[in-house]
Amino acid sequence: MKGKLKKTVSVTVNGTEHESTVSPPTLLSEYLREHLHLTGTHRGCETAKCGACTVLLDGEPVKSCNILAAQIDGSEILTVEGLGDGKSLHPVQDAFWDCHGMQCGYCTPGFVMAAVALLNENPDPSDDEVRSALAGNICRCTGYTKIVESVQEAGKRMQEGTDE
Ligand code: FES
Ligand code: FES
Repeated sequence: MKGKLKKTVSVTVNGTEHESTVSPPTLLSEYLREHLHLTGTHRGCETAKCGACTVLLDGEPVKSCNILAAQIDGSEILTVEGLGDGKSLHPVQDAFWDCHGMQCGYCTPGFVMAAVALLNENPDPSDDEVRSALAGNICRCTGYTKIVESVQEAGKRMQEGTDE
């Protein structure tokens, strides 16, 4: 009887189509990590406060602990695993590395995804614009200055079409 409550969803994750059967309470973060084994999406607070679980849903940054997998039928999801091309990192990932935008790295996938969404819309954000776009992401290590520098450096590299 319980199984009848399950829902089948078709979703494209990092360019690959998946058809999955999920139970109603399954969170998107749980679906990505435990059904698809995409563990780059981190689970922190699970109450939509820390941003560690941020992914792009149809291009918009969302906290994947705050969405049910059953709600994403027909959507496109981009996770941190989908950013690089398998050989090189995305410019945002490279800039976080080069500008020391991370320490322990637990928050980093969420910051990187929020930054990608920002830079896709605004490749040359001011300090305030970066801080505003990343306001839903919490880092317990860095003090944020290096994260802001990383995002602005990534924007420059994306405009130049190079990550050197
Ligand atoms: S784990 Fe989703 S916002 Fe913290
Ligand atoms: S780098 Fe440790 S929580 Fe952000």
